[in-house]
Amino acid sequence: MTSFPQAAPPSRNTSPSTPDKPFLRTLAGLPSSRPPLWLMRQAGRYLPEYREIRAKAGSFLELCYSPELATEVTLQPIRRFGFDAAILFADILLVPQALGQGLAFRENEGPVLEAIRTAGELVRLDPKGIHQKLAPVYEAVSRIKAGLPKDCALIGFAGAPWTVATYMLEGRGSSDHAAAKTWAFGNPAGLDTLMEILIEATAAYLERQIEAGAEAVQLFDTWAGVLPEQEFRRFCIEPARRIIGRLKDKYPQVPVIAFPRGAGVLYDGYAAATGADVLGLDYTVPLGWARDHLWPKTVLQGNLDPRLLVVGGPALAEGVHRLLRSFPERRFIFNLGHGIVPETPIRHVEELVRLVKGAEVSA
Ligand code: CP3
Repeated sequence: MTSFPQAAPPSRNTSPSTPDKPFLRTLAGLPSSRPPLWLMRQAGRYLPEYREIRAKAGSFLELCYSPELATEVTLQPIRRFGFDAAILFADILLVPQALGQGLAFRENEGPVLEAIRTAGELVRLDPKGIHQKLAPVYEAVSRIKAGLPKDCALIGFAGAPWTVATYMLEGRGSSDHAAAKTWAFGNPAGLDTLMEILIEATAAYLERQIEAGAEAVQLFDTWAGVLPEQEFRRFCIEPARRIIGRLKDKYPQVPVIAFPRGAGVLYDGYAAATGADVLGLDYTVPLGWARDHLWPKTVLQGNLDPRLLVVGGPALAEGVHRLLRSFPERRFIFNLGHGIVPETPIRHVEELVRLVKGAEVSA
C-alpha cells in the first residue's frame, strides 16, 4: 500500500472518519485483521451473573429502568468474553410503554401489553412525556460509555415500527401476527397513523441515545419477514427510511445497522432504500447469495444460527468457519442470525470467541 508521508497522523478518537475501535473501523469499511464480534442478546439469562442482577432488580422492567443495574448487565458479557461492541441493555417495548401503553413481562410468558383494538384508541398514545420516562435509559447509555474498555464500541437500539406495532396491536407475542396483519390489510390508513407516531418516537429515542454516547444504532425489525412485498415496503422499508433519514440529517457519521429479520430476497435493495449502513442477516439468508448480491454494496452482520451455539462441537466450528470463509476480508461483523437463547452453554460462547478471534483475515 502507498503511504502518504505529507499527511498529518490521524488524531486518535477525534475524527469520525478514522475511528479507532475495530467495530467502528469495520462499519466505516476499513481493514481489520479479523471480523469484529458481538452477539445479539449477549446480555441475558444464559449468564449466571445476569440472573443474579435480574433477581436483585426484582423484575425485567425494573432492571431496564435502573441505570446502575442496566449498565452492569450490559458490561457483564464484555468483561467475560471481550466482545468488540456492547449493546445497551433495554427492550424494544419501552417505547410503547413510554407512549402510555401498559406493559408487563410475565415469567415464561414474555411481554403482555394492553392491546390497541381500534384506530380510535390510538389517540391515547401520548408522545409528549416520552423522554422523561426514558431518561433512565439515556442515563444508562452515558454510564455504559464511561465504563467501556477503550476498544469496545457502544450500540444503541430500538425496535422498528412494524415489529413494535405487532406487539402493540396483538397485546403479546404471537405466531401468526393476526392482529397486526389484519390492520395492514384491512385498515392500512389506521396502521399508517400508528407508524407515524412510532417513527417520530423511535427517531427521537435513538437521537437521545446517540447524544448520550451510542456510537452506532441497530433497528430491530424482528417480524419484517411476515409481510408480503407491498406491505413490507409500506410498513418496514418506509418507516426505516424515515427514521434513518432523520438520524443521518443530524448524525451522518453514526452508522445504522438494520435487522429486517426474514426479509429473504427483499434484503436486496433494503439498504439502498432505507439508507442503512449495515445489514444484519438472519440465519436463513444463504451465504453465497449474500456474498454475491449484498456484500458488494453493504457491510454485513450475522448470521450464525443461535441453535448452533447451543449444540456446540464440530457443528459450531463448521458454521463459524463457513461464515469466515464466505466473508474473508473487511466489511463483515460476526454475529448470530437472531438472539442468544437462554440454554446456551457459556463454554460454547467461549469457543466461538476463540474461533473468531483466532481468525486472521487478510485485509
Ligand atoms: O443483550 C442485548 O441484546 C440487549 C438487550 C435486548 C433485550 N431485548 C433484552 C431482553 C435487546 C436488544 C432486545 C430486543 C428485543 N426485545 C426484540 C428484538 C430482537 C429479538 O430478539 O427478536 C424483541 C422482539 C423484544 C421483545 C421481547 N423482550 C420479548 C418477546 C421478550 C420475551 C422473550 C424472552 O426472551 O424472554 C423480551 C424479554 C427480554 N428482553 C429478555 C432480555 C434479556 C429476557 C427477560 C428476562 O430477563 O426475564
